Amino acid sequence: MADEVAFTVNGVPHGFALPRETPLIYVLRNDLGLNGPKFGCGLGECGACTVLVDGVAARSCVTKLASVEGRAVTTLEGLGTLAAPHPVQAAFIAEQGAQCGYCLNGMIMTTVAFLKRNPSPTEAEAREALRYNLCRCGTHVEILRSVLRAAS
Ligand code: FES
Repeated sequence: MADEVAFTVNGVPHGFALPRETPLIYVLRNDLGLNGPKFGCGLGECGACTVLVDGVAARSCVTKLASVEGRAVTTLEGLGTLAAPHPVQAAFIAEQGAQCGYCLNGMIMTTVAFLKRNPSPTEAEAREALRYNLCRCGTHVEILRSVLRAAS
């Protein structure tokens, strides 16, 4: 039996006796039923699975369970609610920053971490921050407007 790996998810303590190399996204989606993080490429390249680990954006498909031991993981579900969305979520809703919505988790989680580091970004800085989050529908303009609205 594997040793238990303990950490918090959205402020709630959890422990999992799973292989330490288990991808974090499997634990979040399969064991905790948190479907905010999306499985896209599984290779750390698309950003759909992004979560925050101690406030820093991390790709949960390539984050091993062992690496979050003792740390605070935040998923999309931990940001806000439908009735009281996080300011970044509210900005994405206002600007209609989604088409199919599959990339949206990653866009929002990356934006939350980015605006914490840089609360008043230029458009160029916002573009650069989301450069490695892929959107296949092509709502890049609306996503960029969402980021800048959240920053204002
Ligand atoms: Fe994790 Fe693509 S699913 S980066």
